Amino acid sequence: MKELIKKLVEISSPSGREDAIREAIVEEVRDYVDELKVDALGNLICMKKGKSGKKLLLDAHMDEIGVVVTHIDEKGFLRIDMLGGVSPYMLLGSRIIFESGACGIVSTEGESAREAGEIMKNLDFDHIFVDIGASSKEEAEKLAPIGTFGTYDSKFRDLGEKLVSKSMDDRIACAILVQTIKELKEPADDVYFVFAVQEEVGIVGASVAAFDIMPDMAVAVDVTAGPDTPKSFKRMGFKLGAGPTIKIKDRGSVSSSRVVSRLKEVADIRSIPVQYEVLIFGGTDARGYQITGKGIAAGTVSVPTRYVHSPNEVVDYNDVLNTVRLLKALAEEGV
Ligand code: CO
Ligand code: ZN
Repeated sequence: MKELIKKLVEISSPSGREDAIREAIVEEVRDYVDELKVDALGNLICMKKGKSGKKLLLDAHMDEIGVVVTHIDEKGFLRIDMLGGVSPYMLLGSRIIFESGACGIVSTEGESAREAGEIMKNLDFDHIFVDIGASSKEEAEKLAPIGTFGTYDSKFRDLGEKLVSKSMDDRIACAILVQTIKELKEPADDVYFVFAVQEEVGIVGASVAAFDIMPDMAVAVDVTAGPDTPKSFKRMGFKLGAGPTIKIKDRGSVSSSRVVSRLKEVADIRSIPVQYEVLIFGGTDARGYQITGKGIAAGTVSVPTRYVHSPNEVVDYNDVLNTVRLLKALAEEGV
């Protein structure tokens, strides 16, 4: 499954520019599903037929955080804004790959060491710029005109148990859903796999994806924090390598208690390690499903991930495999 993960995480597809990642996923799943369609927003919706007459929806968002070109100066340096939650501290020193193919380096202003130091204390988008190697405004406008989207340019590395790349958020869940589609032979319910657009800019795709499906249960699969590093979030105790987490709540939604208890039941039936998660920030596509149509019982299964929204997001491969097992268990045991 590591090959599949590498393929999906290395594709550059920020929010609103999901064509490349969607094409890659379609190529992977097309021979394994009973239905496949793309809606007006660009959500990819696949279905595997069951027998019970009930419907389960499993979701992963396809988009990743990124940046957009807002201004180009006379010397050909770019100014940018964020797409989703991007920290200027994470951007500084990193490489950006733009949709045009141009590559940029992120640096910061400062007319003296002292001024540079002051700027670093409160780094914001007003004080960073991107160098794409252009020597004039005209040249830069050809390489990356205003409105061009970009993402971190960072490769997949296999550290053994741990895997690192940009956009584990949420391509790791895309890979998990693809693998589940391939391995799932006899689902109890009709299982809808939604690969949603534009989660990072406000849960956009998920808010409409389920409108004509209206499933009995929706589970968003996403990354969560990895609060097991030195002096990390002391109010959260889950960790990498101890299994996927069943989310109780975050800042976006309170999981349906029926979804939480069903996930725990099927985990216990199949002896799959799971952890409970109360995330003290953030949100997932579960919020979009809860408030779709007449309302949907929704929850989230997460893969603990260190350094979320950085160019180097780290997951544990055992958690990835156990998340596939958990989703298969839910699909086979039924909602
Ligand atoms: Co995210
Ligand atoms: Zn995410």
